[in-house]
Amino acid sequence: MKNKKVILITGGTSGIGFGTIEYLLEQGNYEIISVSRGDKNISLAKGKLGEKANQVIFLQGDVSKEEDCKKIYNEIERKYEKLDGLVNSAAIIKLGGIEEQTLEEWNNALNINLTAIFLLSKTLLPLLKKGTNTSIVNISSMSSNRAGGSIAYCASKAGVDMLTKYMGQELGKYNIRVNSVNPAAVYTNTYVASGDYTQEGYDKWSEEKAPLYPLGRIGDAKKDVAPTIEFLLSDKSLWTTGAVYLVDGGKSI
Ligand SMILES: NC(=O)c1ccc[n+]([C@@H]2O[C@H](COP(=O)([O-])OP(=O)(O)OC[C@H]3O[C@@H](n4cnc5c(N)ncnc54)[C@H](OP(=O)(O)O)[C@@H]3O)[C@@H](O)[C@H]2O)c1
Repeated sequence: MKNKKVILITGGTSGIGFGTIEYLLEQGNYEIISVSRGDKNISLAKGKLGEKANQVIFLQGDVSKEEDCKKIYNEIERKYEKLDGLVNSAAIIKLGGIEEQTLEEWNNALNINLTAIFLLSKTLLPLLKKGTNTSIVNISSMSSNRAGGSIAYCASKAGVDMLTKYMGQELGKYNIRVNSVNPAAVYTNTYVASGDYTQEGYDKWSEEKAPLYPLGRIGDAKKDVAPTIEFLLSDKSLWTTGAVYLVDGGKSI
């Protein structure tokens, strides 16, 4: 425990956040805390991890709410007194352009996908400053630079890239690195959770997308995305900050 890095992963109960937890557990040198909103996803994640679930602290909270961010701070302060890494993976998507999307959908996406990263990082900064070779990894998207799918999502992810660069520049003086990982489509629960697709429809969509990828398939959270996140969290990337890492099976070529 002494030399282990303490890492908080937002949205650790599903998709890329969950795949990252599975991957970090295999590496063995991480203390892992997850935060997400719903009971259901927490139970599902614990069930999938089996015995390993007791190696992860599953907090319940909404990272777009100030009082929940403060609770997360208190919990980590009480147990570890520091934080070595923060993976901001929690996000939502609702498909639609300016003609379809409501102001409420726009505000929700901007609040959770962008403002919450600012809010949580700001709240946890005193603990992050106490970490060793601290690293913040923001999960952005290939959509930060390509229009399509959801106007609010694309705009929020473009914001995440600049937030990453700005924070990277600002926090370097504390030896805190800030980078983003920008995937193309990864097989997760996101479109079923948003109600944009049924499970069957999403599975069909995933298969249809495969030929558009030079590497012949959409991504797998644990196998294809988590290793890059772990590289950025680890001491293997000590001179890397403000970088935007495309992990996209070649989709954006
Ligand atoms: N899947 C893709 O194709 C893809 C591609 C590019 C980028 N990404 C990015 O990768 C990240 C993860 O996406 P994913 O596909 O893995 O999504 P996902 O499977 O839908 O998982 C999202 C996670 O975030 C949590 N969450 C959502 N809102 C939250 C909030 N306000 N506070 C705390 N937790 C919250 C969810 O749990 P609760 O609902 O229980 O809170 C869940 O654990 C996102 O940033 C996404 O934009 C995904």
